[in-house]
Amino acid sequence: MKAVKPRSNQQLIDDWIQQYRPFTIQGKNASYIPALEKVNSSHLGISIIEPDGSIIKSGDWKVVFTLQSISKVISFIVACMHHGIPYVLERVDLEPTGDPFDSIIRLEMHKLGKPLNPMINAGAITVSSILPGADSKAKLDSVLLLMEKMVGKSFTYNEEVFLSEWKTANRNRALAYYLKETGYLEIEVEEALEVYLKQCSIEVTTEDIALMGLVLAQDGYHPIRKEQILPKEVARLAKSLMLTCGVYNNSGRFAAFIGIPSKTGVSGGVMAAVPPRVRQEASPLLDGCGIGIYGPAIDEYGSSVAGVFLLEKIAKTWDLSIF
Ligand code: DON
Repeated sequence: MKAVKPRSNQQLIDDWIQQYRPFTIQGKNASYIPALEKVNSSHLGISIIEPDGSIIKSGDWKVVFTLQSISKVISFIVACMHHGIPYVLERVDLEPTGDPFDSIIRLEMHKLGKPLNPMINAGAITVSSILPGADSKAKLDSVLLLMEKMVGKSFTYNEEVFLSEWKTANRNRALAYYLKETGYLEIEVEEALEVYLKQCSIEVTTEDIALMGLVLAQDGYHPIRKEQILPKEVARLAKSLMLTCGVYNNSGRFAAFIGIPSKTGVSGGVMAAVPPRVRQEASPLLDGCGIGIYGPAIDEYGSSVAGVFLLEKIAKTWDLSIF
């Protein structure tokens, strides 16, 4: 009898994309940003990039989508690199909230007006306001530039997605006015919102966010270009925030059952940074990797439904949890 050849990692990922695509019907596209509502909700795609540059791509990996909250990781890194970590932490804390990403409730309950972390909208708007540059264009450019350094290509934002959220951003405006009133927003509300909503509208593919995840997994080092892109302590801080706050009020379950520092966005993107691991037995991806997933049908926490199932399957089968 002929021995059955084990399936390659690429074949397994192809199988799992097929297996989890039907789960997209359990979610819904973000409807509070009208431009996101109309995209194909059955899409599911993934890119996985290893430090030696090898890459697994499957499903709708090539589809262009907007960063949304994944941009909060990049803007936080830019602010820390420009001002130093202590300056940024005077304006945002590092504590999980257990609340949805756009919640306002703790702003009044915590140290008056100080956002609990930079992954929730209040914290991210504060961070956008301190990005380097004299105006909103220069501030946005600082985010685009770091992405360019991490990925090796230039990026732009999607004007339609930006405008569609700009017109409907009443809750973000409320957060920004509150931050302004309590002194945490040092620039004008509309300018801070413009930077924040434009950074959310930056267009990427799963390959781009996988590469950014890889650089974070490697503590800021680009293993393919062999270049330190950002300081190790900033990369570590960003990853700790991704793990504790990256999925908002689902971060605890995410850490328990997936165990990979990850950031999700309401457009359906998931950026995951898998650090290198030491194991006795040979298992895939021991040197770590970056994973980028796209699936626009999201759950109540603002994360891709099928994308989270897919990441959980990969993490469990290949033993990727950091714990
Ligand atoms: O500010 C917002 O509501 C969106 N631009 C981004 C929110 C988001 O992606 C939350 N994450 N899952």
